[in-house]
Amino acid sequence: MVIQVNYFGTKNMIKALTPLMRPSPAGSRIVSVTSRLGRLNSKRNVSNTSGISNVAVREQLENVDTLSEEVIDKTMHTFLEQVKDGTWESAGWPHVFTDYSLSKLAVNAYTRLMARIFEERPEGEKIYINCYCPGWVKTAMTGWAGHVTIEEAADTAVWLALLPDQFVSGKFFAERREINF
Ligand SMILES: NC(=O)c1ccc[n+]([C@@H]2O[C@H](COP(=O)([O-])OP(=O)(O)OC[C@H]3O[C@@H](n4cnc5c(N)ncnc54)[C@H](OP(=O)(O)O)[C@@H]3O)[C@@H](O)[C@H]2O)c1
Repeated sequence: MVIQVNYFGTKNMIKALTPLMRPSPAGSRIVSVTSRLGRLNSKRNVSNTSGISNVAVREQLENVDTLSEEVIDKTMHTFLEQVKDGTWESAGWPHVFTDYSLSKLAVNAYTRLMARIFEERPEGEKIYINCYCPGWVKTAMTGWAGHVTIEEAADTAVWLALLPDQFVSGKFFAERREINF
């Protein structure tokens, strides 16, 4: 359910809405809400936190030149198959909030992929797509225990949506700063 809503849901929304986005000289904007838990390369990644310790999968998702929708979808389907047959725990997936972290990792990868694809759109029809982590926010998801207010959490999203027409696409942000995927 988490993978379906967070990754496939986001992807379907982007596909449905992209044709409706109005051409504009400043470019249209997509901002995906993801999470630092979906990082590929956090130092804390390697064995017991979020991040993918399966090197082959990590390399595939890392390389934006060879990244494709099929690669991301296949990664998700492989994980879901392993959940069904009970083998996922030793397969190098994120150890913390596994389904959630992986779903956000997939949206991050999809953001980079779409930025590459959107790059080919003609001037005046550009779409810039980025993702960001809002921090640990005081919402239902954290049982209202987060230390970031909803207004603070929304700040980077609004900033990204309203950036002047400089080319920023396929990047990952937190607190208005670019961070590593
Ligand atoms: N809170 C955090 O600390 C935190 C940290 C990092 C990232 N995020 C991300 O920020 C985003 C917003 O999270 P939040 O903290 O605001 O969580 P939230 O308070 O639990 O809100 C989640 C929202 O998603 C909607 N939703 C859930 N399942 C859905 C589905 N199947 N179809 C359509 N809508 C659905 C819910 O709708 P209903 O109200 O109708 O159920 C609700 O409005 C999420 O993408 C989350 O992963 C949050």
